[in-house]
Amino acid sequence: MVKIGLLGHGVVGTGVVEVLKNKAEQLVELTGEKIEVKSVLVRHDYDVDYKEKFVYDFDEILNDDEISIVVEAIGGTDPAYRYVKSALEKGKSVVTSNKELVAKHGYELMNIADEKNINFMFEAAVGGAIPVIHGVRNCLKANKVNSIAGILNGTTNYILTKMIDEKQSFDIALKAAQELGYAEADPSADVDGIDTCRKICILADIIYGNHILPEDVHTEGIRNVRIEDVDILKLVGGAVKLLGVAKRTEDDKLFIMTAPHVVFNQGILYAANDVFNAAQLETDNAGLMSFYGRGAGSLPTASAVVNDIVECVCADGTIYPSWADENAKMVADYKTVPYQFYVNVSDDAEKVEEIFPTAEIIHVKGCTAFITEKISENELGEKLSGFTVNSVLRAL
Ligand code: NDP
Ligand code: HSE
Repeated sequence: MVKIGLLGHGVVGTGVVEVLKNKAEQLVELTGEKIEVKSVLVRHDYDVDYKEKFVYDFDEILNDDEISIVVEAIGGTDPAYRYVKSALEKGKSVVTSNKELVAKHGYELMNIADEKNINFMFEAAVGGAIPVIHGVRNCLKANKVNSIAGILNGTTNYILTKMIDEKQSFDIALKAAQELGYAEADPSADVDGIDTCRKICILADIIYGNHILPEDVHTEGIRNVRIEDVDILKLVGGAVKLLGVAKRTEDDKLFIMTAPHVVFNQGILYAANDVFNAAQLETDNAGLMSFYGRGAGSLPTASAVVNDIVECVCADGTIYPSWADENAKMVADYKTVPYQFYVNVSDDAEKVEEIFPTAEIIHVKGCTAFITEKISENELGEKLSGFTVNSVLRAL
């Protein structure tokens, strides 16, 4: 019998209880062990039929020698960091869905797990149900990943889909995302790109091998996305998506950022709508590769958490080594890296053709919009100095 201590009884925590229950027999077949939630750390009671499992003091879980795996589904870093660190130090493996915790403290926590020969697992922290972390860790060993671009936040993708396809207001779409259990406790983490930034940092940590701190990464959210631009782009097969992007630059630095991007209709990033997330990787041997699935929600997220629990149960020691420590110097100045841009100006097309002779003009009545060839943001700024600029978006 494997006993779990569960921290938090919200969207993810209740999902974990449910999946462990509805897959109980399958999990015994897979692991040879019955996996049971022994204790659930809560701050107040909930009306469920397993109230006897509720505990109100973390030390009851920490000091319970029968509990070998702690599942953290509280969120944030205080007290989650303290609890997770002390559980690992006590020799308990930890599974978490908390991207803030992993993005900030992953290096330290993975090293503690390594020292103790146990596991610190966090598949659900990126892409909800999608096994993207397992994919990049386990299935691309014969590849170099040149770049990754992902829709990594279900809430903002849901909001953009509802605003664009159903003409819902931002506030109504956000409220629905909250009711569906997709949004963070403070939804500005979703809307302002902070959550996506944490997730692209975690993927970059794994792929590129150094701990990249979110504060070193340029981050924009969706608040300034204009419906006018979305409508123009729709006419030419484009859509606006909030992406986390990371890639090696020619001078072996890391270009990494979170920002709304224009994507065109030949790929998974264009097709992923609603709460769905998608990640697209460019690799040297496997070529282009995609991951796609539900990025948030109770059971989809619990599916990833429970898979990690199964891996902990079956593991003979630490499975995944840590990445290296922080190295802020490896992050490139994002304004100097060449990129394509979508630009909307109030000037006439002749002026655009004069200053941007290679640009692809989008011929839509009543506006002047164009896609540049690859150019750095610094250079773009200089070229646009004589224009009346309505909007600029990065384009993939
Ligand atoms: P919820 O807000 O739904 O649940 C958090 C739970 O933790 C609540 O039950 C809350 O209790 C409890 N909690 C908070 N502080 C404490 C504390 N000090 N002691 C005990 N319990 C506490 O959040 P989610 O379940 O949505 O998210 C949990 C984590 O999973 C977050 O890191 C989130 O980013 C991540 N995540 C969420 C996904 C989703 O789809 N929702 C998907 C992937 C990851 P109370 O009821 O008293 O507030
Ligand atoms: N708030 C997050 C999202 C939860 O919407 O993607 C999943 O990490």
